[in-house]
Amino acid sequence: MNDQNPPHYPTLFSPGAIGVAALPNRAAVAPMTRVSANPDGTATAQMAEYYARYARGGFGLVITEGTYIDRRHSQGYLGQPGIADEAQRDSWSAVVDAVHAENVPIFMQLLHAGALVQHNDHVDDAIAPSAVQPRGEMAPHYMGRGRFPVPREISRGEIQNVMEAFAEAAVRAADVGFDGIELHGANGYLADQFLTEHTNRRTDDYGGPIEQRVRFHVELVTAVREAVADRIPFGIRISESKVNDLAYSWPGGARDSEAIFGAIGRAGPTYIHVNAHRGFEAVFGTGKSLAALAREAVPDNVQIIACGKLHDAEQSERMLAKKTADAVAIAKGALADPDWPWKVRGGDAPVAFDPDMIRPTATLDNTEQWRREQLAAKE
Ligand SMILES: Cc1cc2nc3c(=O)[nH]c(=O)nc-3n(C[C@H](O)[C@H](O)[C@H](O)COP(=O)(O)O)c2cc1C
Repeated sequence: MNDQNPPHYPTLFSPGAIGVAALPNRAAVAPMTRVSANPDGTATAQMAEYYARYARGGFGLVITEGTYIDRRHSQGYLGQPGIADEAQRDSWSAVVDAVHAENVPIFMQLLHAGALVQHNDHVDDAIAPSAVQPRGEMAPHYMGRGRFPVPREISRGEIQNVMEAFAEAAVRAADVGFDGIELHGANGYLADQFLTEHTNRRTDDYGGPIEQRVRFHVELVTAVREAVADRIPFGIRISESKVNDLAYSWPGGARDSEAIFGAIGRAGPTYIHVNAHRGFEAVFGTGKSLAALAREAVPDNVQIIACGKLHDAEQSERMLAKKTADAVAIAKGALADPDWPWKVRGGDAPVAFDPDMIRPTATLDNTEQWRREQLAAKE
């Protein structure tokens, strides 16, 4: 890249901030589960290098993969890292240091799988808002096969335990040096199971109309805000689609969107991370993207990160220039080419995503193997 010329996409590559975390530019790496942790859920040296590589490639923010929060029901995948105890917490220190060495902030995504459990080292059953078998099948790229088991209904006491576990995990993440926290409220996992009519059949005040189904998110944001907001920024991820039900859409459309984003926004997160299949595309016949609807529904001080095919830099630039989003998050485009920012900024074409990069499973080893094979084929 020639640093003498003005960059392509000037808004995308201008400095930004999420809360007090300064970003060298607005392109974030989206959370990606890579099922490559040690068997005890600690982070590895390979993971430190993997995350640092994105920072070296020019990304302005790194968000980790969904990390489990307790030694109970939160783990969903074999090879998933945790931040459930001190040993797991301390193992992230090398990851944080490696990314910070490139002067880039790193946020940790905290995940509770709920009913979507493919593997759990700590307990034998799964908990969910209601005892409803999840749609779809386990993900083979995370070493799963067949239907999900039927979870049992989570008690009100256990809901409080989960809130506390999120808050304690957030404190551990802040203690080990993460610059921010992202709560996984999306993609079909526990929080999203509360939001969704067919997985939440509760008759108490966590179920019923959307204003009550969003209560879990609101309480989660409140618990984590009270635990860490005076130290680091924190946000929550929201989506319509689910890993086990990609085509799912909110039945109440724009009305649901207003109820969901409005209630969560008023609970006071630093940001909401809006994940959509095509993050720039208009939804519900409104002529506006889901991120734009979120922006309209939240108080002015709540920031927005948009995600979904935003490796299309024209679309990212447009959303950022219109102030629909404060940053964009890129998943498959980043995985395909960790140098995406440097290349796009300089007008070069990045490597395109190829599903073989995460086949047969989404491990770091398999992506490294893919790259070696490509290099060998070129020689
Ligand atoms: C291999 C892989 C793993 C993912 N793991 C997570 C995850 O841990 N947490 C999460 O919120 N989203 C996860 N996602 C979804 C992405 O963050 C993103 O929302 C989705 O891929 C759409 O963005 P894209 O079009 O830039 O790929 C994952 C996606 C991929 C491809």
